[in-house]
Amino acid sequence: MESRTSMASSPGALPYYVAFSQLLGLMVVAMTGAWLGLYRGGIAWEGTLQFNVHPLCMVIGLVFLQGDALLVYRVFRNEAKRTTKVLHGLLHVFAFIIALVGLVAVFDYHRKKGYADLYSLHSWCGMLVFVLCFVQVQVQ
Ligand code: HEM
Repeated sequence: MESRTSMASSPGALPYYVAFSQLLGLMVVAMTGAWLGLYRGGIAWEGTLQFNVHPLCMVIGLVFLQGDALLVYRVFRNEAKRTTKVLHGLLHVFAFIIALVGLVAVFDYHRKKGYADLYSLHSWCGMLVFVLCFVQVQVQ
């Protein structure tokens, strides 16, 4: 049986998994952008297009960047801890800002249209995901 130490020091197929994860992540972002651009009129901060900022920002922030932030320590396992920490932190900060823009967009859109807030399972689960993601932040 392979020991835990040898598994950790020889990631083997890790580069392929990482490349595949990046390909999938970029495809999700590109497909969301294409869906919004081609079928939903694009994005803008005014009018009905303001809503479209929400899905795009949530996918870029909470799916793509947040996911990459989690991969940093595995992918750059041979780099200095300080460097990977900075990269990890930066990705989390970008993810947080972009996700926040996505949330502000949907709440602002609802307010301008006079729609109710937090009326769906999606909205409550979404708030929970956002809050739980970012209350985990530890600065060491
Ligand atoms: C992690 C990703 C996401 C989070 C955390 C999230 C969070 C939220 C929250 C908190 C609201 C409530 C806004 C309000 O009550 O004024 C909302 C609304 C909405 N979101 Fe998302 N969202 C995410 C991704 C998406 C995506 C990818 C789509 C579309 C493909 C989407 C479509 C909607 C729609 C249609 C509404 C309005 C209806 C409703 O409140 O359920 N969301 N989202």
